[in-house]
Amino acid sequence: MDKILEVRNLTQLFGKGCKHCFSSTGPEFETNICPHCGSIVAVHDLSFDLHRGEILGIMGESGSGKSTAVKCLYFDQEPYSGTATYFSDDQQYNLFNLNAAQRRKMRNHNFGMVYQNPNLGLNFDISAGGNIAERLLMNQVMNYADIRERARELLARTEVLTERMDELPRNFSGGMQQRVQISKALATNPPLLFLDEVTTGLDLSVQAKILDLILEIQTELNTAMIVVTHDLGVIRLLAGRTLVMKYGRVIESGLTDQILEDPQHAYTQQLVASAL
Ligand SMILES: Nc1ncnc2c1ncn2[C@@H]1O[C@H](COP(=O)(O)OP(=O)(O)OP(=O)(O)O)[C@@H](O)[C@H]1O
Ligand SMILES: [Mg+2]
Ligand SMILES: [Zn+2]
Repeated sequence: MDKILEVRNLTQLFGKGCKHCFSSTGPEFETNICPHCGSIVAVHDLSFDLHRGEILGIMGESGSGKSTAVKCLYFDQEPYSGTATYFSDDQQYNLFNLNAAQRRKMRNHNFGMVYQNPNLGLNFDISAGGNIAERLLMNQVMNYADIRERARELLARTEVLTERMDELPRNFSGGMQQRVQISKALATNPPLLFLDEVTTGLDLSVQAKILDLILEIQTELNTAMIVVTHDLGVIRLLAGRTLVMKYGRVIESGLTDQILEDPQHAYTQQLVASAL
């Protein structure tokens, strides 16, 4: 398989840091807060590969560092250390060394993001169609009719009623807002999507439909995805491989089926048992 992303030793620290931060935090200390200086080790030494069309799950309890990891990769924040390499067809990019313009281009062309909070992913002051248009126009000059056509196509694809494309997303239900976010993320057909707790807080029936939609997109467009969730059911359904995080560290990783069938770490065993 063709590699699209390689992450090595990604680390994120909030606070001034000291020489003890990494050696005195983590699962064995049951904290991500350094007892010496109070800094938070949100992510430490995260490494993984992602291949084209593959869905990788990142699972773990609240505060384990899942969103922080994804935000670093999507340039929402600057990591403390580590590398991430993005592979396009003919080139590779050292993500954290890119300048602002290159980062913007990478985000707009190659990445898509669906945030847990639709507030972060959508502009609530412009219409659903306008949100998609905004993203389309970042990449290329397009005429009005073509933009509307593409927005309509994307909303139809994610099962948002196209009659509603001129409505403000603030008037939409949570599930509809997530669908609009997914449409927006897909606008440029990015080869890599980040999905942070996409279905959290939605009704179960709505969750199931959105998860189906994500699988369909993966199959149709061969989109690679990083799916962040605390929900084992989401991982089971979507992710071929999974990383389990706790206190900023990966405590278990491998094929999802294997992790679910034969979890090695006590924490994962407990998670799996409680979901049965
Ligand atoms: N901007 C920030 N400044 C300081 N601490 C932060 C910041 N962002 C996150 N943290 C801390 O970093 C740790 C990891 O947070 P993160 O949001 O990545 O966890 P998460 O696994 O996504 O949790 P959740 O399931 O609740 O979304 C937490 O202890 C959190 O309080
Ligand atoms: Mg989070
Ligand atoms: Zn410290």
